[in-house]
Amino acid sequence: MAFLILSYPKRVEAFRKIFACNLPDLPFVSDADEVDPAQVRYLMTWDFPSDLATRYPNVELIFSTGAGIDQVINAELPPKARLVRMVESGVTAMVRDYVVMAVLALHRDLPAFLEQQRKKIWKARDFVWADQRRVGILGLGQLGSTVAEALRSFGFQISGWSRTPKDIAGINCHHGADGLNAMLTETDILVCLLPLTDATRGILNADLFGRLPRGAALVQAGRGGHMDQQALLDALNRGQLSGAFVDVTNPEPLPAESPLWSHPRVILTPHVAGHSRAETAAEATVENIRRHRAGQPVTGLVDPARGY
Ligand code: NAP
Ligand code: GLV
Repeated sequence: MAFLILSYPKRVEAFRKIFACNLPDLPFVSDADEVDPAQVRYLMTWDFPSDLATRYPNVELIFSTGAGIDQVINAELPPKARLVRMVESGVTAMVRDYVVMAVLALHRDLPAFLEQQRKKIWKARDFVWADQRRVGILGLGQLGSTVAEALRSFGFQISGWSRTPKDIAGINCHHGADGLNAMLTETDILVCLLPLTDATRGILNADLFGRLPRGAALVQAGRGGHMDQQALLDALNRGQLSGAFVDVTNPEPLPAESPLWSHPRVILTPHVAGHSRAETAAEATVENIRRHRAGQPVTGLVDPARGY
């Protein structure tokens, strides 16, 4: 029985140290050629080897190094294997900070001030107090609920949308199709922190942008496949949207000819909103392996039927 990690050297070394202290009886391997594949019971990776299902027949848990799982959700798995997404404090804090930065930038009209700066225009703009600004968050999971809590401390009016009903103090929680419509009509800054599934692919489209109040803004930190880029550009050019902070695109990297690169109302980052932190990810993985060995539920277990 072994733990195989397929990752870059710095992450592997952090995992090796933490596994040596906490799971000394579990053989730790980082070179796939140095282990009998039949011995691999736990596998950590981002991309799956194409022969995963036949090569590692006895794998029971496959851990993603990331919070998202869409890159592997449709892969053929070994018979007993279950997928586990990354739930750990590092990626949660990093995404929280990114979204807070983006919401504050849009709240304070940063895209417009950057445009004025390029044109050497010294001019104040209308200001909205935080308690009059409505932020709507698509996805109230590990990341969305943490972001909601952080933004609430600035005084924003916070709503959120999930698949199943939620009750979170201080957050106006919506779910389902009717809930989405209700939230959109009362949202000035929309944040996307959804997983990419068959139900959420393309959700950020012309119809959705049209249901937001005129002049609303977007923070897109989910997955590129959530958004119709042409619909975003059209909404920005018509003034339906006033600005967008975009971290994820389809495809990635964003092709050089995409108008998103130079749109004056778009701030673009190269899929950096968050990634897991090696040390805390290793601790979370150790805890999950302990739980699995004890027959307890593991954190972040993916339900293949719902796709996340
Ligand atoms: P999570 O804990 O699984 O939460 C997902 C949330 O989305 C849940 O609240 C879920 O509703 C909701 N949801 C899923 N499908 C839905 C649907 N059809 N309708 C309405 N709500 C739906 O995931 P997480 O850890 O917060 O991560 C969310 C996503 O963030 C990842 O999958 C990834 O796409 C993205 N991400 C991006 C970056 C980046 O660098 N840009 C970094 C990390 C993660 P329920 O609560 O009802 O299940
Ligand atoms: C990054 O995008 C992740 O899913 O962790």
